[in-house]
Amino acid sequence: MSKVFVKTYGCQMNVYDSARMTESLAQHGYEETGRPDEADMVVLNTCHIREKAAEKVYSEIGRLRRLKERRAAAGQPMVIAVAGCVAQAEGAEMIRRAPAIDVVVGPQAYHRLGALAARARRSGDRLVDTEFPAEDKFAALAAVPAPTRRRPPAAFLTVQEGCDKFCTFCVVPYTRGAEYSRPVAAVEEEARRLVAAGVREITLLGQNVNAYHGEGPDGRAWSLGRLLFRLARIDGLDRLRYTTSHPRNVDDELIAAHRDLDALMPYLHLPAQSGSDRILAAMNRRHTARDYLDTVAALRRARPDLALSGDFIVGFPGETSADFALTLALAREASYAQAYSFKYSPRPGTPAADLADQVAGDVKSERLHELQALLDAGQEAFNDATVGRRLPVLIDRPGRRDGQLAGRTPYLQAVHVDAPRTLLGEIVDIEITRSGANSLAGRIATAETVALAAGAAGVAAP
Ligand code: 5AD
Ligand code: SF4
Repeated sequence: MSKVFVKTYGCQMNVYDSARMTESLAQHGYEETGRPDEADMVVLNTCHIREKAAEKVYSEIGRLRRLKERRAAAGQPMVIAVAGCVAQAEGAEMIRRAPAIDVVVGPQAYHRLGALAARARRSGDRLVDTEFPAEDKFAALAAVPAPTRRRPPAAFLTVQEGCDKFCTFCVVPYTRGAEYSRPVAAVEEEARRLVAAGVREITLLGQNVNAYHGEGPDGRAWSLGRLLFRLARIDGLDRLRYTTSHPRNVDDELIAAHRDLDALMPYLHLPAQSGSDRILAAMNRRHTARDYLDTVAALRRARPDLALSGDFIVGFPGETSADFALTLALAREASYAQAYSFKYSPRPGTPAADLADQVAGDVKSERLHELQALLDAGQEAFNDATVGRRLPVLIDRPGRRDGQLAGRTPYLQAVHVDAPRTLLGEIVDIEITRSGANSLAGRIATAETVALAAGAAGVAAP
């Protein structure tokens, strides 16, 4: 068996893609290792969304080159492959700049990575494959047999890829290509396979997931809302989430799903990017601040406890302090449980990168700081409000220390709890006892669970 070391940068879709690459490489005789020094192949699955991503990849390749040379001296070749969005954006240029790279493979071509690596190994050639479209990839990956091992209880499932929105700051339409939705049947089959392997929570992924319009069993295009209603019927699939959404694509069916489906968790990542209509127009977002807030209000009428998350960009070209004040106002009014903010970073090839009135770095930093403080305070308040409540927590991983486990509330908050390992993979009622900036602490709340945890029936509740 050969060994492969995979390093993942960036978003959840890259995490999903890395898992699929690893499964597909198993077909070519590779097993995964956590140690690059013993790897016959190293895959860097890269991200290009913001600054310095490409630079980080090149410095990682610098380190790997030394490892590759050492291994070569010992007669053990190492194939270095770069996958993901930097690979797509830079293509053959990467090999010119870093000749230690053997294979460059884009996000729509990684099902061919095993074959490419074999060819590179045999011939010593440098190979680049950045072909589109996505259909062939999903078809090829569906043919890969599912691993027999049990899975962690929370999994990702890509249902949609690419984007046709062309926000003027964003590289995604260029690196991931045109919007593509997988058919409902393919999604449902993958979801059933995951549940059979022990998964209880699935997060549906797409760069623009609520633009989903996959072919349904009736031959028509189904919306994301409709897909959620369908998946919620799968026995044993207790929790559903989806990310990332565009405000323009929140339709009545999706709102109904939030109202009617217990399995659909009350959490939504809905980026606003800015609170200024002038900047939103320059970003080509195709919605106003009021549209955004109205959408959030409609969602909250359907699901009053919805925890809202979002993304903001500060210092987009031409952003004045008045525009920025509108962003602060929107963030206050939307009342986020949690949100991210970023300094605008010009991405080569995107329209906004060429705009004349770029905002100075120190102004961006100041604005980021101010917005982040507001968002952090909101997150703290949201977390504090859950103290004393009992929440069902999916225990999905070991905690920081022995005897501790960690999981997620319906609102996606991380919770640490003292509990025996037998509770891994269970959904347990937890009483929240403390809240911190980024996580909560709690204790097991129900008598039955205490008994389960003690490994014996009939233990009295405390
Ligand atoms: N500069 C800064 N932030 C960006 N994002 C996307 N492109 C850029 C860019 N060029 C942010 C957006 C998006 C998140 C994933 O990354 O807020 O929602
Ligand atoms: Fe990028 Fe999202 Fe805009 Fe598409 S909708 S261009 S992925 S920010």
